[in-house]
Amino acid sequence: MHQNTLRAEKVDEIHASDLEIPHGTNLGTPDERADLLLAQMTLEEKIGQMSQVNGGGWDLHKSIQEGRIGSVLNEVNVDTVNELQRVAMEESRLGIPLLIGRDVIHGFKTIFPIPLGQAASWNPDLVKQGAAIAGLEASSTGVNWTFAPMIDITRDPRWGRIAESLGEDPHLGSVLGAAMVQGFQGNDLGAKGSIAACAKHFAGYGAVESGLDYNTANIPENELRNVYLRPFKAALDAGVATFMAAFSDLNGVPATGNEFLMKQVLRKEWNFDGFVVSDWDSISELTVHGYAADHKEAAFEALNAGIDMEMASTTYAGNVQTLIDEGKINEQQIDTMVCNILRVKFQLGLFENPYTNPEQYPALVNEQHLQAAKMAAQESCVLLKNDNQALPLSKTQLSSLAIIGPLADDGQEQLGTWVFDGESHHSQTPLQAIQKFVGDDLIIHVARGLDTSRSNDKRHFDEAVQAAQQCDAVVMFVGEEAILSGEAHCRADIDLPGHQEQLIDAIASTGKPITLVVLAGRPLTMGNIIDKVSAVLYAWHPGTMAGPAITDLLFGQTSPSGKLPVSFPRVVGQIPIYYSKKNTGRPPSHDNITHIDHIDGGAAQTSLGMSAFYLDAGFTPLFPFGYGLSYSHFDYSDIVISDQHINLGDTIHFTAQVRNCGDVEAQEVVQLYIRDLVGNVTRPVKELKGFEKITLQAGESQTVSFSLHTDDLAFYNRKMELVTEPGDFHVWIGGSSEAELWGEFKIL
Ligand code: NOJ
Repeated sequence: MHQNTLRAEKVDEIHASDLEIPHGTNLGTPDERADLLLAQMTLEEKIGQMSQVNGGGWDLHKSIQEGRIGSVLNEVNVDTVNELQRVAMEESRLGIPLLIGRDVIHGFKTIFPIPLGQAASWNPDLVKQGAAIAGLEASSTGVNWTFAPMIDITRDPRWGRIAESLGEDPHLGSVLGAAMVQGFQGNDLGAKGSIAACAKHFAGYGAVESGLDYNTANIPENELRNVYLRPFKAALDAGVATFMAAFSDLNGVPATGNEFLMKQVLRKEWNFDGFVVSDWDSISELTVHGYAADHKEAAFEALNAGIDMEMASTTYAGNVQTLIDEGKINEQQIDTMVCNILRVKFQLGLFENPYTNPEQYPALVNEQHLQAAKMAAQESCVLLKNDNQALPLSKTQLSSLAIIGPLADDGQEQLGTWVFDGESHHSQTPLQAIQKFVGDDLIIHVARGLDTSRSNDKRHFDEAVQAAQQCDAVVMFVGEEAILSGEAHCRADIDLPGHQEQLIDAIASTGKPITLVVLAGRPLTMGNIIDKVSAVLYAWHPGTMAGPAITDLLFGQTSPSGKLPVSFPRVVGQIPIYYSKKNTGRPPSHDNITHIDHIDGGAAQTSLGMSAFYLDAGFTPLFPFGYGLSYSHFDYSDIVISDQHINLGDTIHFTAQVRNCGDVEAQEVVQLYIRDLVGNVTRPVKELKGFEKITLQAGESQTVSFSLHTDDLAFYNRKMELVTEPGDFHVWIGGSSEAELWGEFKIL
């Protein structure tokens, strides 16, 4: 309710200030207008539209005047942006406005949780609202295009960019990615407050080998289509205006020069009519990949693949004319690409309304935006462990509390990666919020313990131990600083960095119950520490409102409701580990595996359980996809399947009873999984096909329903045809990917 109200208010505000846009005038469709404009353009002006340059204070006056720039990124000073638009509109020959691009990834000034955190909310309305607010704030400075959502499926937490992603699952990534597109773009790209979204990075970047950024990705076409491309198709169906090519090499062809991706899939199969931008320098980097000998060849490969706009590097500006003169490309190809770009500019209403008056926008970081960010942060937190109901903490039962750790009071680090515009002075930290909440009711002892999450300096350990000794309970804020995740920030060891584990050991030696709050940009491996603490609340990097959100959860003002959007490995050697795996010919079970500590001396080669498991880590993750506890618990029963048999083309319905068996109101993410038992290509052991976040009062039951059309069960087969095959299916409904309540049906 709350969220919808907020969106509606935003829309009203926007419409009130929207009146000068001449909607409904007879100017023609964006298509017609793009064609008319194109007919007046010189080749140089066309190449200009295909060129995006960095702003950030550079003097772009002359190049804009001469029509050599179509888009500027990283300029967020509204006066400068207006001046650039003025030069484009009034001083360039054809008066074509600029696209102003920016990485508005999880908020502009009001910072929301990192996308991976938002994904843990499993709440599309909340995710949409976060994008809408981010877009609204950004557009008040003249930004009209964001490079988001990032919808790369990734199953490797070593990869720093997992922080920007929506996790491991194509269905969850599709639903939430589409919600972000709708949030940024609204119902009308031309409305004030709407900005163009960009589905990135097309495609396969999330599968870079060994979780190393910019590395090669090798993905069989079948897997590419069944897993990695699905969120992109969903973004396209949600109307995303632009796509960005990935930096990475896919099956030997860098995405930026990849005709199969850009032409075959995106344009031919999906009929995309927006435009594709390269990534930063990714066209000139085709030479570094060893895919092009020089910048002329690089420009040719990117043009030939269908990259409409070049970001940062200038191979188009330097080579298109020559490539045309040499007959390697023809001007019609260029025309098509320029039209793709102009159409989006017309859709955005930029020709009618190129300037930005910040006074027509709500204040940045206003109370409404902060409350939305708080709600997003709250729903993003995942309660991973809560032994003996260590949480929630009670102000009446405790008399003192120790707050320990390097991330309890650090307004910058809680914001996470990709916050070009976020400012830590807006941050409300956990320590500040806890102190405010408890007032004089509790004595709080504070000790940072370590200066940073990476510190190996144990100098302050004694102080931290003393703080713990003086208190009834301890809350430790550990994890990763923002700089340890994000682009080019990968880690090969994803345990808690620095001496944080030793700090936990020192505090645990006091015997005081420890609640661990983890702020991090990725799943960390916690196999070594999980048994040393009573409770773990995984908060990701929660953004500006980390403090109030976490405090409400710790003190039971509301119950945690986040669920993991990605599996948590026990140790790094299990990676990639994900729930939607294939069965293999030798699947393990708990009865047929042996642990390395239990091998008899001289054991026979075949005596250990000949199946797919690690002798030292088993085969299960520490916490599975979809998992998360609350202060209540839920019982699932009475699965009902509408039909035992259905025909292709039919829809099948499933219901289950979900009961809140605890004594507090709580939200639960009810999840629907299926397994297609036999396929023309092997099918995963489980696939998420639906989910719904519900709120139940203590003791309340609800019947939750899902419907699937047989098309929802389709997959790409050996011939790359999208088919639903007749056969047997299993279905589960439950609170995680390890749901137990199940049934079966058949497609005839
Ligand atoms: C490189 C990143 O890969 C991409 O995600 C980002 O949008 C661009 N740089 C622009 O900053």
